[in-house]
Amino acid sequence: MTKRKILVTSALPYANGAIHLGHMVEHIQTDVWVRFQKMRGHDCHYVCADDTHGSPIMLAAEKQGITPEALIARVKDEHLADFTGFHIGYDNYYSTNSPENKAYAETVYKALRADGKISSRTIEQLYDPEKQMFLPDRFVKGECPKCGAKDQYGDNCEVCGATYSPTELKNPYSAVSGATPVLRSSEHYFFKLGDCADFLKAWTGGSSLRADGVQQMHLQAESLNKMNEWIEGGLQDWDISRDAPYFGFEIPDAPGKYFYVWLDAPIGYMASFKNLCDRTGIDFDEYFKADSSTELYHFIGKDILYFHALFWPAMLKYAGYRAPTGVFAHGFLTVDGQKMSKSRGTFITAKSYLDCGLNPEWMRYYIAAKLNARIEDIDLSLDDFIARVNSDLVGKFVNIASRAAGFIAKRFDGKLADGISDLELLTRLQAEGANIATAFEAREYAKALRDVMALADLVNAYVDANKPWELARQEGQDARLQEVCSVLINAFRLLTIYLKPVLPKLAEGVEAFLNLEKLQWSDSETLLLAHVINPYQHLMQRIDPVLIEKLIEANKQSMEQQAPAAAAAQYEPLADTITIDDFAKVDLRIGKVLDCKFIDGSDKLLQFTVDLGFETRNIFSGIRKAYGEPEKLIGRNVVVVANLAPRKMRFGVSAGMIVCGSGTEDSQGLFLLDADEGVLPGMRVG
Ligand code: MSP
Ligand code: ZN
Repeated sequence: MTKRKILVTSALPYANGAIHLGHMVEHIQTDVWVRFQKMRGHDCHYVCADDTHGSPIMLAAEKQGITPEALIARVKDEHLADFTGFHIGYDNYYSTNSPENKAYAETVYKALRADGKISSRTIEQLYDPEKQMFLPDRFVKGECPKCGAKDQYGDNCEVCGATYSPTELKNPYSAVSGATPVLRSSEHYFFKLGDCADFLKAWTGGSSLRADGVQQMHLQAESLNKMNEWIEGGLQDWDISRDAPYFGFEIPDAPGKYFYVWLDAPIGYMASFKNLCDRTGIDFDEYFKADSSTELYHFIGKDILYFHALFWPAMLKYAGYRAPTGVFAHGFLTVDGQKMSKSRGTFITAKSYLDCGLNPEWMRYYIAAKLNARIEDIDLSLDDFIARVNSDLVGKFVNIASRAAGFIAKRFDGKLADGISDLELLTRLQAEGANIATAFEAREYAKALRDVMALADLVNAYVDANKPWELARQEGQDARLQEVCSVLINAFRLLTIYLKPVLPKLAEGVEAFLNLEKLQWSDSETLLLAHVINPYQHLMQRIDPVLIEKLIEANKQSMEQQAPAAAAAQYEPLADTITIDDFAKVDLRIGKVLDCKFIDGSDKLLQFTVDLGFETRNIFSGIRKAYGEPEKLIGRNVVVVANLAPRKMRFGVSAGMIVCGSGTEDSQGLFLLDADEGVLPGMRVG
């Protein structure tokens, strides 16, 4: 077998948020693949890091009254504890705020500059005069220039879906200070991506030859289509600088200018690996030199494809390094068919999962059983999670061991048969190993696990056909009983090998139980004969549905919890004075909610049917995030702007607006108004 040299990464999580099950999908997908490669005997290194730079992290630290360095140090510990809790086996988990990363960011930048790939020009950008900083798009809010929806971000409208630049927003305000931003110009540095078009065209559609002779496509077919669209649409130069104040690395020979976080983030892959190399003696250059014959893979989510399939390969190439062998994108995690939601309790953090006492391998198995090599979203259906884990892992797999081990211990002093003549089942299991390996290699984990479970079914059928418990009661059947149970223990060992990339902890338990060295993939070619095993100890519990209720409860963010944020918040500036006649122009009415429901395709809106006494209206309201259980709003009184011009939206016409209390930030929540008892629909408010 050719020994491959492989370097693998997962995307670097931002250092200002908790790890949630969405992140976990990616790290489980990567970890399974890495463990599989290691079991196959390849040199495979897995590195990751926290992505620590940028304005959001700088501002988050400031809000908490600590330095960015203190924030990222704390978060890194939290992240690593979460990942370790899920048995993610990095060879190094590092930080982009490291000396190695600073050095490589500078090296890459200088090499690009020497190659003529860096330009500079003056651009105009929104500036917060109060906070004295340029505002990233996400920190400018205002009314959508297309549909007029309030409180939209500077880059796109979540109500009508329009994209625009922050300067087009109406009545813009800074989400940092509340001040009205002004236009200000400043010199920025650009990476001339347009000059890399020929290379990118070839690279995105191309492949690399692996050491084992396989031709590896750089991108999945779906990614390639997307990249082709982008390349054809014309590659814009990429703005890689930000002005002080900024948390990041200062650009060489450009005082007061910093590398945009997305420049040094992927370089963080190199930095983490370099840090590992320096500790362990791996040859860094062998992996990153331009003509490297090693393999480099990035596991990422579909949202960051642009960075990994265009910017990053181009940066590597023109800075004189190798480009990736493959960029593997996955889809997004949904829970019970919907985007993860804090109010529904389905924005599940990794920590809450572990703290509730749930076994991380249940989730590893479930996620793996849903993953394939395509960019499809993955749904965590909580009922299906319980059913699948209990039936597959406990019912089909673990039970095999418990059904055979007792007899081996009690009747044969723990010793397996010296020889097995009844080899049909085991031969079949061994023969399937190659297919299962092919599926793991191709990231078709769902298929691999389907195949393993089909084999487990065969093993259970063998138990039912050979009835060891009956053999145990019959005279003169000792040898047969030992043989049947030895077949079962061997079958269990083979299945354990196939499941080990997904269930490393359970496999460790099996290794202890069967008295074995660490199982490698090639161990599936042999059988255990005349071998003494240890007494069986329970390897995995069933999922108790009560635990899932506890988990959802733990993740429900009630409005009360959000209150402290509101107390510390900024207030919107007071609007200009109006007369009573101005106010009378706004016809506010009491409405009674007759119906309220989710809308397919919108994670922002709820659809209301409101009784205004004199008529019934259809109204869309962007309060879904705050009210995750629309049916609970039925029967309530709300306040409606009844004479607002009807507005055509993507999902229909909205005839009026339901008023809400809201702060300057989303996190402060949205609050419907209520009226005292006795009020009737249609009554005027004023
Ligand atoms: N810091 C950047 C990545 C820099 S890589 C050089 C970033 N961080 S992130 O924390 O927002 O996301 C990290 C990874 O988690 C990304 O690959 C992203 O796609 C993935 N996911 C975040 N939410 C997810 C789901 N709900 N489902 C699946 N993956 C998700 O982007
Ligand atoms: Zn809009």
